[in-house]
Amino acid sequence: MKDLFCKIFGDNKDALVFFAPGRVNLIGEHIDYNGGEVFPVSLSIGTYAAIRKREDSIIQFYSENFSENGIIKADLKDYKNWEKLTDDNGKLIWCSYCMGVIKEIIENYKAFDKGFDVVYKGNIPNSSGLSSSASIEVLTAYFLKEMYDVDISMIDIAKVSMKAENDFIGMKCGIMDQFIIAVGKENCGVLLNTQTLKYEYVPIDLGDNSIVIINSKKKRNLSGSEYNTRRSQCEEALKIINNPAYECLCDMTVTEFEKVAAVISEKTIQNRARHAVYENKRTKDMVKALADKNYELCGKLLYESHYSLKDLYEVSCEEIDFLVEESKKIDGVIGARITGAGFGGCMVSIMKNDVIEDYTEIIGKAYKDKFNLDAEFYKVDIGSIKKLTV
Ligand code: GLA
Repeated sequence: MKDLFCKIFGDNKDALVFFAPGRVNLIGEHIDYNGGEVFPVSLSIGTYAAIRKREDSIIQFYSENFSENGIIKADLKDYKNWEKLTDDNGKLIWCSYCMGVIKEIIENYKAFDKGFDVVYKGNIPNSSGLSSSASIEVLTAYFLKEMYDVDISMIDIAKVSMKAENDFIGMKCGIMDQFIIAVGKENCGVLLNTQTLKYEYVPIDLGDNSIVIINSKKKRNLSGSEYNTRRSQCEEALKIINNPAYECLCDMTVTEFEKVAAVISEKTIQNRARHAVYENKRTKDMVKALADKNYELCGKLLYESHYSLKDLYEVSCEEIDFLVEESKKIDGVIGARITGAGFGGCMVSIMKNDVIEDYTEIIGKAYKDKFNLDAEFYKVDIGSIKKLTV
C-alpha cells in the first residue's frame, strides 16, 4: 500500500495503512431492516487504505480498483454541497461512499478542515454480495477516527456508515454489513439483533467442515432499486397487519404470522413478509445447531433459506439456483444458499474439508459449461478491522 501511495502521490513519508474486512452473511438474509437476527462473519479479504494528512482543505482520492477514474479531488470547504458522483453513463463513482461518510462525520462528530491524500485497494470482488461498499465506508470512518481523533465508537462507525449509504448514496440498506465489518473478529461470527443492536460473538467451529464462498461472477443487476422495493414491501406488510404489538415483522413468531397472514391479500407482499419471519427463526435455529455441532441441521437451514429467497423473496438468479442444485448432488456438501442482497453475486456453503478440491473442479466445470462464466471459490478465512502501521 505504501508503494502504491508513493506511485500515486510521489512519496510515502508519514502515510498510514489501514484495513477493513468484507463480510459474508451465513444466514438471516434481508431481515436486518425488519428487526431480525442476522449471523454474518467478517472476512480476511477486504479493503486497504494508505493515507496522509495535508496542510490544506483538499482531499485526493485514488482507488487502484478503479484506476480509470484517476485521482478525484474534493474540497472540505465545500462539504455541505457534496453530492454523490456519477460518470457519463449515470454509474455511481466509487469515492461517493467515502464522501458520504466524511460528510456524516463532519456534520455529527467532528468538523476538521485539513484534507488528506488516500489510496485504496481492495481484494473483495465488486458487486459480488461480499460488501465491498460497506468495507470502504467503515474503513474511511475508521481512519478518520484514528487520524483526526474523532471520538466515535465502532458501533457508531457502523451507524454513520449505514446512514451515508442510506442518505448520500440512496441505498436503503440495513445495519448488518457495516456492523459486522466494524466489530467482527477472528474465529467468530456475530449474532446481531438488528432491532436492539445487541450482539454476541459466536465461535465458528465447524469440525471437519469449512465455509466456502462461490462467486458466480454474475454481476448484480438493478440491486439498488429492487432492494429498496423489497424493503418497502415489508413495510407495507407490517402496515397491513396493523398490530401495535409488532414494531417490525421479525417481532412475530412463525405461528403468530400465519394466524394473521391472510389479511395481506396481495400474495407477493404476503410472501415477502413470510420470508422475513421464517428467516429470523432460521437464524436462531442455526446458531443453536452450530453450538450443538449439528452440522446436518445447519446445512438444511441454508437450503431452506435459499428456497425462501428464491421463491418468496425473489432475489435469486438462475446462475446461483444452478450452483445450489449442482452442489446438492455432491456428497460432502452440507448446505448452500445465495448470500447478500442477491440478484447475482455469491453463494455461501458449508462442506466437508476433504471434498473441497473435487467440488471446485466439478462445479467449476459444470458452471462454465452452462453459463460460460468462471466461478471463483474462496475458503472462508475470518478477518477484522486493523491499523497496520504504528
Ligand atoms: C445488503 C444490505 C444489508 C442486508 C443484505 C441482505 O447487503 O446492505 O443491509 O439487507 O443486503 O441481507
